[in-house]
Amino acid sequence: MQDIYDSKYVEELFDKMSSSYDRMNYITSFGFSSAWRKQCIKDIDLRNSKVIIDLMSGMGECWKPIAKRAPQNVELIALDFSGEMVKHAKNRASKIKLEKITVLKEDVFNNSIETELADCVISGFGLKTFSHDQLDALAIQIERILKPNGQFSLIDVSVPKGKVLKFFYLFYLKRVIPVLGWIFLGNPSTYKMLGVYTENFQNSKEVKRIFEKYDFEVEYIEYFFGCASGIKGRKLVIAPTNQAAI
Ligand SMILES: C[S@@+](CC[C@H](N)C(=O)[O-])C[C@H]1O[C@@H](n2cnc3c(N)ncnc32)[C@H](O)[C@@H]1O
Repeated sequence: MQDIYDSKYVEELFDKMSSSYDRMNYITSFGFSSAWRKQCIKDIDLRNSKVIIDLMSGMGECWKPIAKRAPQNVELIALDFSGEMVKHAKNRASKIKLEKITVLKEDVFNNSIETELADCVISGFGLKTFSHDQLDALAIQIERILKPNGQFSLIDVSVPKGKVLKFFYLFYLKRVIPVLGWIFLGNPSTYKMLGVYTENFQNSKEVKRIFEKYDFEVEYIEYFFGCASGIKGRKLVIAPTNQAAI
């Protein structure tokens, strides 16, 4: 059976979706996706940042709201492993009012980002395609690349709590979206996976539990009755142990 969390499988899925991702992302979230991205970015203070990292950056969908809130001379480093998404992102970079945008085509679990480089790490809709162990590995990477006291904000679509909303939301994701996928891509199975990942993911509560194992202060956030959820917080500053006391 196909492992849907296998990196190669996910990379190919996004390569295939890249031509219609923008439109489909807007439709699948009922047009809420851009508002949720803005909220995710508003949830942390970018004003004094020198380096901001956008993980699972796709085509750079988070960059406009970042550019609105960050100092213009900030260095934005975006990372994604899908060659097609990265290609679109590089085209978008010249349209964003930020001095320096670097797009890395890399796997987040094997990345070249320097340790303690980032003031802030953000990620829009990049969590649901990770298994529990991969989310754990993501927490380790974010802890590594953030400066002490550095902030993070991560968001993804989720399954709402209310029974009626949940029924319609899942019906929409699992039945309507594949039809839209067929219309846009001629392939219903690719977009069917969005429903599968979202149902497995449920919400960001497990992500919060995982991040709490590490040196983070973490807060869980829900958007629009739980149709999206995320975590935000900061990397704790760990006081050095007193060697002289030994
Ligand atoms: C749902 S898209 C999100 C794109 C964008 N951040 C947004 O706000 O819409 C998820 C992205 O995560 C990328 N991705 C998934 N797993 C990854 C990994 N292990 N390393 C790097 N990128 C990954 C995919 O290629 C895809 O572009």
